[in-house]
Parts: sequence; C-alpha cells; structure tokens
Amino acid sequence: MSRRRLFVTTALPYANGPFHIGHIMEYVQADTWVRFQRMRGHEVHFVCADDAHGAPIMLKAEAEGVTPEQLVTRIAAERPAHLRGFHLGFDNWHSTHSPENTELSQDIYRKLKAVGLVYAKSIEQYYDPVKGMFLADRYIKGECPKCGAKDQYGDACENCSSVYSPTELRDPYSTLSGAKPVLKSSEHFFFKLSDPRCRQFLKNWLEQPGRLQSQVVNKAKEWLEGEGDKALGDWDISRDAPYFGIRVPDFAEEKYLYVWLDAPIGYLASLKNYCAKKGLDFAATLNASEQIHFIGKDIIYFHTLFWPAMLKFAGAPYKVPDHVYVHGFIGVSGEKMSKSRGTGISPLRYLDIGMNPDWLRYYIAAKLNAAVEDIDFNPDDFLARVNSDLVGKYVNIASRCAPFLLKRFGGKLHSLAGSHEYGAELFGLRPDSLLHEVRARGSVIGALYDDREFGKAMREVMLLADAVNHYIDEKKPWDLAKKPEDATRLHVVCSVAINAFRLLTIYLKPVLPSLSHAVEKFLRVGPLQWTDVESLLPEGHQIDKFQHLMGRVDEKQLDALFESPAPAAAPAARSPQTHAEHQQHAAREQAVSDVITIEDFSKLDLRVARIVEAEAVEGADKLVKLTLDLGGETRTVFAGIKAAYAPDALKGRLTVMVANLAPRKMRFGVSEGMILAASGEGPGIFLVAPDDGAQPGMRVK
Ligand code: 2FM
Ligand code: ZN
Repeated sequence: MSRRRLFVTTALPYANGPFHIGHIMEYVQADTWVRFQRMRGHEVHFVCADDAHGAPIMLKAEAEGVTPEQLVTRIAAERPAHLRGFHLGFDNWHSTHSPENTELSQDIYRKLKAVGLVYAKSIEQYYDPVKGMFLADRYIKGECPKCGAKDQYGDACENCSSVYSPTELRDPYSTLSGAKPVLKSSEHFFFKLSDPRCRQFLKNWLEQPGRLQSQVVNKAKEWLEGEGDKALGDWDISRDAPYFGIRVPDFAEEKYLYVWLDAPIGYLASLKNYCAKKGLDFAATLNASEQIHFIGKDIIYFHTLFWPAMLKFAGAPYKVPDHVYVHGFIGVSGEKMSKSRGTGISPLRYLDIGMNPDWLRYYIAAKLNAAVEDIDFNPDDFLARVNSDLVGKYVNIASRCAPFLLKRFGGKLHSLAGSHEYGAELFGLRPDSLLHEVRARGSVIGALYDDREFGKAMREVMLLADAVNHYIDEKKPWDLAKKPEDATRLHVVCSVAINAFRLLTIYLKPVLPSLSHAVEKFLRVGPLQWTDVESLLPEGHQIDKFQHLMGRVDEKQLDALFESPAPAAAPAARSPQTHAEHQQHAAREQAVSDVITIEDFSKLDLRVARIVEAEAVEGADKLVKLTLDLGGETRTVFAGIKAAYAPDALKGRLTVMVANLAPRKMRFGVSEGMILAASGEGPGIFLVAPDDGAQPGMRVK
C-alpha cells in the first residue's frame, strides 16, 4: 500500500462560546479516522482553528464591553484543555483572525478578481441609523407581510413559514437598537458563481466518483441546477464597516470580506501556521496532500459550491478539496441540537464531573456511520454500551485472564507458534483458531474504519470480544487453575486470551487513545500499529502488573451530567486539574459576571410561582420534582435542592422561576424551567422567595 499524505480538517467553530456536544462529535469522528490512518502508516496533518470573524462576534464583544480580539482570545484560551480532555489530537489549532488568514484571504480575493470572477454592484439594504450599521436579516424584525404575526425576523415568518425579504416586513425595527431601519445603498463585491466556468467546474467536481457521499452530491446538484428563483445566484462576499473581519484589499473605502469567505480559508491558514512551526513548505505540503474536510450537514452549501470554486479559480498553490465528509447532527434523548444552544448535555460538564472521555468516544463511534444521518445520545443506551460492551466484553478479557498469568507464570506468555499441535492435543481443538478468527477480521475492520463506518467496526470488534469470552467460558481457566496437572492448559488458554485482547486493542485504538495506551503499558508493547495484527506476542513475553483499565459508568454520573449545574447542585467530583486551572475555575465562580445590558436582562422572564407539589425523584440523590403554579399555568421543574429541603416542606411555598428557559430533557423527565436559589462557598442552598403579597404569575423585573 502506498503511503497517503492527508491534510484533514474539521469545521472551524465560531469563537463566541465553548464547544458543545456537536463539535465534540465531529472532532471524535475526524480524530478517530486520523488516528486510524496514522496507525496504517499514512502521514496526516490534522488542523482546525477558531472562526473568529463576523457581526455576531463583534456584537457579542460589544455587549460584554470588550474588543472582539479580547473575546476571541479568551475563547481560544479555553480550547486546549477541552481538546486534551477528549484526546483530540489536532496538530494545530489556529484562528481566522491571524496574519496567515489575512494574507491568504486577500490573495485568493485578488486572484479571483484577476480572472474576472469578482465584480462590484451597489445594493440597497436596511441600515440602523442609531447603531450606524447595515443590518443582516436576523437583526431586523417586524410584522409578517403575509399573516400579520408580530416580531418576525427579516427573512421568514415563524408563524406561517412564509419567506420574504426584510423590506417586505411591516413596521420593521432593528433588534439592536429598536430604531426604524432606513434603506441605504452601498457598493458590494460579488463572487460570480453563475459564471459558466464555475458551473462546469462544479458539475465535474461534484460528479467525480468517490469524492462525496451520494446524498451530498444530490443536494449540491439540486442547488447547482436550480432554475428561476431557485437559480444559484452570485455570492455577496463583502460587508460594510463596522465589521470584525479582513479588509477587502486594494480598496480605499473600509470594506470587509464576508466571514464565510475567510472562514474556510482558515483551514489553509492553520496549515500554513503549522508548516511554519514545523519547518515545512506550505505550498509543497498542500500540493502533496489529499485535502479532506469533515463537516456537518448544515454547511454543505458553502463547502461543495463556493469553497471548491474559490480554490479552483484562485489557482496555484491552492487546490480543490479531494473529499468533503458530511455527518448529521447529534441530539440528546430525541431532542434536536441547536447550533447556538447545543443540547442538554455539555461536554465540558462531562469532563468537569470526571467522566471518562474514552466512554464518550466509544459511544459516538458506535453510533456513527458514513451516511449523513443524525445520531442520538441516549443516557440508558450510553450506560449499556459502555458497561456491557466496552467494559463487560472487551476490558473483561484481560481482567479474567491476566491474574492467572501473573500469579502462576510470572506474567510470561506460553508459546502459540504455528498451528500449535501441542495445544490441539490438549484441548481437542486448535487454540490458535480463535486467534486466527480474530486476526482474519482485521482487514474487514480496517476497511470499515477507512470508510468511516465506525458503528459497524465497533460491532465487528464486539462480536470478536464475544468469541474470546466464549472461549474463556468454555476453557474455564478458574477450573484449570485448581489442578496442578492442568497448569500448561491454563497457561495456553490465558496466553491465547491475552493475545486476542492485544489484537482487539489494535482494532479499538483509533477510538480509545487513553485506554489503548494503558493496555500498551500493561502488555509492555510499543505503540501498536495496524500491521501488528500480523504478529503475536512471542513465547516468554512478559506482561506488566495488571491494573484496573477502565471503570463502569455509574448512573449517578449521568444524573450529574443532566442535572442543572450550580447553584443547586453540590460540588461535583472534578477531573484532575492543575493548580492554575483550579484557581482560574474558582475565580470564575466567585467573580461577578460580565456586564449585560438591560435588553439582555429583559430576555429573562422571571415569574412568581407557587410550589403545589414536591416529591423526591427515585434514583436521583439531589433532585426534587416540583409542580409549579404560575397563576393558571402549571410547570414541572426538577431542582437540585434535596440536600437542603425536604419535599413536603416545600409544598405551598412561593418562589421565583425562570419561565422562558428552553425545556430541558433530564433523565427523569422534561424540566420546564428553573427555580432560583442562592448558594455560596460553604454548604447550604437557599430558595429565593418573594415578599408577602406577591401572587403566582407576577413578573419579577
Ligand atoms: O457553522 C459554523 O459553525 C462555522 N463556523 C463553520 C465554518 S467551517 C469553515 F468554513 F471554516
Ligand atoms: Zn406569517
């Protein structure tokens, strides 16, 4: 097999918040694939970056009273610990707000202009006279022109689903200042995607066999071949000041490149930055490598139309992507993930409460396939797959056999060379036939990894683990250990099982970096490669003291993962932190939060609520299930206040709840809001209560 050279990326996350589970799923998918390719001996450059530009980040920074640079720097500082936490082995993590990205984006822009694919045109847009900026559709609201529903966004009505342009809204207002927007014209630059050269190129690029998943080709061709008002238009690639981005080059007026132009160029900027660190030539590395992007299904449009066309017509040293691998979304217990809110589970909380990253990696891998399909994180399924399959089947092989080898044979393995007629005589079957079976599946499992069919690969491995456990059940080493005359039998059986365990570890290593590392230490072998499937541990090979390799998921950990975090939750067990990290964490918890505007505050709908029912939740240490009366409307809320309040003592009390919090799926049901409670450094949780006279349903403001 010739050595592949691969340049692999994952989509760049917006630099306006921490990772959510959707990011982690994508990174686990790409990281697993990359680890597999490296085990096969291929060369991989695996990079990502923060997607730093655009109006939302600029506005968020403004609301926080910091510069956009400060905001993105703060977010960037959090990334390494979270990536390390899930063993995500990017070679480089950069930013689109970087000299490399400025240089490359301006270079690509100039080259596209030089070949006649960029033109200027004046367009009229809504402008906020108070804020002094042009408004993207999401910053304009008004009355729906079709059904009259109030407070609808500038592009579509959530009430009647009609689609329109912001100028059609009745009584429009800017969501940024409340001002009535005015129409103003401005010169913009457009990328001529409608040019026949682009269309012809894209058609060929999309149809190249094996480049894209068929669902993705179909989707992209629908857009490419659209007609009438569905026809693929040219792309507005510039924005007026104020904007946080990269300046349009060679133009006196202050204009910026649209964030979606510079974002994918960030892939190249990160590679360039990496090459400089490693002393590699950027253009040569890029050209020698297959260029592969892992992305989610929501950004197919940009990655299969604009991005390849930009690269193609910018010319050397750029090259078009070889593959764009698209995955679906991850939901939690059947609820869809939102791009901005993520889902009910936070990967950072997962790490914070000390859950094993390899569990989540395994679970995600077991659910993934090569199609553009959504997957679901289901806590019961998670528990079952990790505990029954990963620990109960695979890890258990070592726990069942290693102690005999260590106690009885000094940790040294018996010979398993050749067909092992000696063993065959002893057992009436060939002890190496099991190993033969386990080894023979290696090529199938390898092909599944290569095709990103990780779920199927995990099923294959678990079937093999079943076969190994079956072998152990049949040979009963615990019985053999009782009779001195069975010592050799015992030695052979345990040596077969440990060899099988080593082979399974090779198969699982792309998914389980930290567990496989522990196994390598225990087996006293160097970093396992895919070709190691061809060999067995030789006679007399010494294994190490057996140490506990992986624990089981405890239901309580899942409760903690789903429960609302502080103030109501008791301090959770933490993963090991450095002193500095710990200090930082403590400071974050104590300091008064960043300043918000009155508009931010008014988004919270706080209501007086009467607790009409309160009951303990079976199986959850901290939770009380509350039924709240909001003056006619009833809500169910799960609150982590059991340590401080007996459920019966809560009945009839008034408290304050956040009434417009998105419902949150918890292990025990859906929580439809949150009650307010105070807590501090010391013990104690103190429910917030209104003064006498307040009535359920009253707004707190
Ligand atoms: O959708 C997103 O989250 C974007 N930040 C993805 C950018 S991917 C690439 F183009 F940079
Ligand atoms: Zn409407």
